[in-house]
Formats: sequence, structure tokens, C-alpha cells
Amino acid sequence: MQKINFQKLKKEVQEKIQKAGSLQELDSIFNQYFGPEGKIKTLTQNLKKLPLAKRKNLGKKINEFKEFFDQALNLKMKELKEKIEKNVKREKIDVTIPGKKIVVGHLHPLTLIIQRIQEIFQGMGFAIVEGPEIENEWYNFDALNIPDNHPARDLWDTFYLKKIIRGQKLLLRTHTSPVQVRFMEKHQPPFRIIAPGKVFRHEATDKFHEINFHQVEGLMVDKDVTVADFKGIIENFFEIFFKQKIKIRLRPSYFPFTEPSFEIDIPCLSCKGKGCEICNQEGWIEIMGAGMVHPQVFKNSGLSPNEWQGFAFGMGIERLAMLKYRIDDIRLFFSGDLRFLNQF
Ligand code: PHE
Repeated sequence: MQKINFQKLKKEVQEKIQKAGSLQELDSIFNQYFGPEGKIKTLTQNLKKLPLAKRKNLGKKINEFKEFFDQALNLKMKELKEKIEKNVKREKIDVTIPGKKIVVGHLHPLTLIIQRIQEIFQGMGFAIVEGPEIENEWYNFDALNIPDNHPARDLWDTFYLKKIIRGQKLLLRTHTSPVQVRFMEKHQPPFRIIAPGKVFRHEATDKFHEINFHQVEGLMVDKDVTVADFKGIIENFFEIFFKQKIKIRLRPSYFPFTEPSFEIDIPCLSCKGKGCEICNQEGWIEIMGAGMVHPQVFKNSGLSPNEWQGFAFGMGIERLAMLKYRIDDIRLFFSGDLRFLNQF
């Protein structure tokens, strides 16, 4: 049996116990010596094999070591327990302290407006469709009866991409009208759809103009859709959206893809038509372009203009939001300014 240097052993346990930072650690130190496979445990088990004199001597040393161990252990345990109690006292929860307010995020005002617009049109039987933000010249211009080099193209200041795919210049769509063509190519009338989304224009920005804004396109095609249907649907939309009856004004206008074409104004809700900052002193605010789908657009989309007729409109979503919430600068929507956003 190997000889044990109890002096060294005491020093060793003393150090281990000193270093221990938790009651679990103390437990494991105890086990290292007195556990089923502990050093002292095996020693004690072998004790009876020894001759009496040696047995007595070793037994005494073991007892002494055990006492030493117990003392060190108890001391450390007391120290740790005191520490734990202190912590518990410090961490005590005062249930009477008023809670911290949880700040919950919310949807952007434009997202809320788009959702509302969708709900209202869905209520009138319109389906919601989407189109790509990166378009090609065919869908954004040619198919909509806006040929290359035609002055009408200047109505839309366009961001072109460097890429050309299958002979088509790519661009950021300047309006949501290309969705009309994309939808008519794939669907047989009758149908009524709206297509909300981002559009881009290479313009100088000011209170009323942004290079990036949103439109919602509308398209209703059937055998005998008329301007009266358009007027009825739009008036109904405004009444629900603004929660009041709105008088609209149809002003003759020009778009290459509608005939006849008109622009729709509504009285400024801020000044009730008197003229103010928000309406640029006009009393009226232009809110959308619209008209009856041009026969050429039907042809370009694979539908017969002799068989079908319909109306289309394109509405500025920021304009709508500005009117509803009396916002006087379109740039606020993209400013990321929390003082603005938190109001919604
Ligand atoms: N696309 C036109 C614009 O951006 C609006 C419009 C849509 C006009 C549909 C007529 C019909 O100005």
C-alpha cells in the first residue's frame, strides 16, 4: 500500500476548498476524497488488512485529516451561504414598483394606408395583383402606347438600368400601369384588379415630389364598363377611405394609354377648398390619373378592343396619406424620423 503524505494532502484540500465558488464545487471536492471512489475511502477500506499497530497509526491520521477537512469545509460553506443570502436579498423583487412600458413597433403609415386601400377595393370585388419594380421598356412604355422618341415619354423621367435583356432596356418602373398589360396578357375578362406598389421617377424632390413613391393601379374590364362605373367606384372608395362624402372633379387630361383621359381632383380636406399649404393654395388636390383603356393597349395585351372595354386609374398613395393625416411634406415618409412615425 502506498504511503500517504497527510501534510501534503491537507495543503492540497485546503487550497481546493479555498478556491471553490459554489456549494456544488464543495460537494465534488468532498467526493474526490470521501466519495465511493475517493482517495480516503479506499484507504479506509484497506485498513483492516493492515497489522494492528500500523492500522492504529493510519486510522488516527485519517481521523485527523477528516477533522481538518470538515473544519475547512464548514468554514467555506458558511462563507458561501452568507454570500448567497446577500445576493438573494439584493435581488429581491419589489412587485409594487411600476412596470417599464414596453415599446411595441408598428407598421409604417404607408403600409397601413395600402392595407386599408386593399380592404376597401376587395370589398368591391377587386383582386390584388403585383408586378415587378424593375420593368423593361415594352411594359413600362411601348405596350402602353408610348413609343420611343414620342414626346409623351418625357412625362415620366426615368431611371434606366445599365442592363439590356433580350434587346429591352431595363428601368425602374415609373408607374404601376405596366401591371395592366402583364395582367391582361394572362387573364381573360371580365375582371377587376388593383395593383399597389413602388414607382420611381428621376425628378427633383420637394414637398410634393419624391423620386420613390407608391401608386395603386386599378383596372376593370368587361363588356360594357363605362366612365360612370369608374366614377361610382371611386366615389365609394373615397367615402369609405375618408369617412365622409367627397366631391370629385374629373378634369380632361392626356395619357397615351387611355382615351378619353382625365385627372381626378378632390377638395383639399385641410382647408375645405379655401387654399392652404397642403394644397399649394389651389383648394383642390390632384389625386389620380384615369381613363378608358385605349384600344391599342388591349391589342398589345392580346385582347380584342371590339369585345372589351374598361377603365384604368393610377392613384398616388402618399398623396392619399397626406390628405388623410394632414401631412404637408411627402419626404417625411422616407425620413425614418421617429417623431413622425410614432404618431401612427
Ligand atoms: N400611370 C399614370 C401615371 O403614372 C396614371 C394613370 C393610370 C392614368 C391609369 C390613366 C390610367 O401618371
